[in-house]
Parts: sequence; C-alpha cells; structure tokens
Amino acid sequence: MSMYKTVKDILLDDIQLEKVEPDIYSVIPKEARSHHYDKAAKFYDWVIGNRFYNRIIWGNWPSQYEAFCKQALASNHGGIVLDAGCGSLVFTAKTYANSKHPIVLLDRSLGMLRRARNRLIQHAGIVPKNIILIQADILNMPFLQDSFLTIQSFGMLHLFENTKVILSDLIRVKADDGCIFLSSLAANNNLGHWYLQFLKKQNEVALCQSSELLQQRLAESGVEFDAHTIGNMAYFVHCK
Ligand SMILES: C[S@@+](CC[C@H](N)C(=O)[O-])C[C@H]1O[C@@H](n2cnc3c(N)ncnc32)[C@H](O)[C@@H]1O
Repeated sequence: MSMYKTVKDILLDDIQLEKVEPDIYSVIPKEARSHHYDKAAKFYDWVIGNRFYNRIIWGNWPSQYEAFCKQALASNHGGIVLDAGCGSLVFTAKTYANSKHPIVLLDRSLGMLRRARNRLIQHAGIVPKNIILIQADILNMPFLQDSFLTIQSFGMLHLFENTKVILSDLIRVKADDGCIFLSSLAANNNLGHWYLQFLKKQNEVALCQSSELLQQRLAESGVEFDAHTIGNMAYFVHCK
C-alpha cells in the first residue's frame, strides 16, 4: 500500500492532505506555509551537518545521531514510524532510505522538507514508497490517537519552552505499546552552557538545561524516560 493511503487512514477527520510539490504534502493552509527554518535550511545543513562542529561543541559524532535513529527503528516491529521535526535528514537520510518500515517524516518547514526529499533521492534514487514527507506542526499533529508504534524526534526538545505541550501530542499519537525516542541539546559542560545561552539570546532555542534537568522536565510532564548522555546531547527513550 502507498504511504499516501496509509496516512489517509490515520488522519483526523477534518484534515486535508494537499500535495504541494513532488513527494511533499502539507496540512498547513496556503497562507501559513512559510516558516522561520525555510531561510535557515542551507545554513543548517552547512553548519549543523558539520562533523567537527558536532564533535567540538556537542561532543558527538554524527554517527552517534545515526546510531540512535537505527536503535529507534529497530524497536519497531510492524507499526508506522513518525519522525516529528525530521528537518533536512542531514544525519538520518541514509538510514531512512535503507529502511523498509512505513515512515512519516513531518516538519513545519518546506525548505527543510525539500532538502530531506533531495537527500532521500540521492541515496535511493527516488523517495521510497514506504516514506511520506508532510508539512505539519508538531504541537498540533493531524493524526488520530494511537497511530504510531515508534515516534522519534531528534534535536527538538530544546526548541520548546513548554515540554508538556510537545509531549502531550507525541503521547496522543503513540500506540499503547509504542516507544518514543527523543534527543536534545543539553548544557552539560561550560561550553554547552555558553553556546546554548548564546542560541537562546538569538531565539534559536528555548531551553538551556542539563540532561538531568531535561529528564526531570519530561517526568514532570507526566512521562518517565530512560536517559543517557553523550557530551552535550541528551538521549531519551520511553517504551510502553
Ligand atoms: C534543530 S532542527 C532538527 C532537525 C532534525 N530532527 C535533525 O536532527 O537534524 C529543528 C527542526 O524542527 C522544525 N520545527 C520547528 N518548529 C516546528 C514545529 N512547530 N513543528 C514541526 N517542526 C518544527 C524545523 O523546521 C527544523 O527542521
């Protein structure tokens, strides 16, 4: 079955899925489709995709982000996968291009989704039939409850001041026996703290907190996550 048909079955009643360009769909009204990340997409790929930037500032190699994505996919046995805030797939395109899972890639920015589509095509020759790219808002997702067996959202938590709000919609669309995999920039050492404070002043992030405090925030929002930390990156897993 095509991913378009699969997704039609899990959309909320009043939602229209409109094809806005090859391989990209949107649930956002035409007049609201532009987004702050559209203009930043090229810069994002150039800086954020750089392995030395990640190693020096955040203490991670991109292969560690890729490994977390593979771990999330490996937890899935037969359900739909959602990547909420997939961005340009700068770290994950190859993993997704090689996956056989049904995958929904959601992002608010068409600029980022275009880059994601182009990366999938680079790796697989086409956007694989088991993958769909959708422009939508992570805070107001267009899906029925219990739709996804695996939800992954990488590098997103630190963007939102209200952890409870982002978490409640992720939980709503997660199947009862599903898992959530999150990662977040964290202020675990002086460099991480300084750089996150700088990004906060630029309004690029909302939170500048250690892994421990982020885990506490998640728990206070009503969901317990297992955590592990590498450098200034926190990785969280909730299964059940
Ligand atoms: C820091 S990037 C992370 C991208 C990707 N997950 C990664 O690890 O490279 C944040 C992404 O969140 C998207 N985004 C920001 N606000 C959003 C929202 N309200 N709903 C969905 N996506 C959003 C941006 O367009 C951007 O692609």
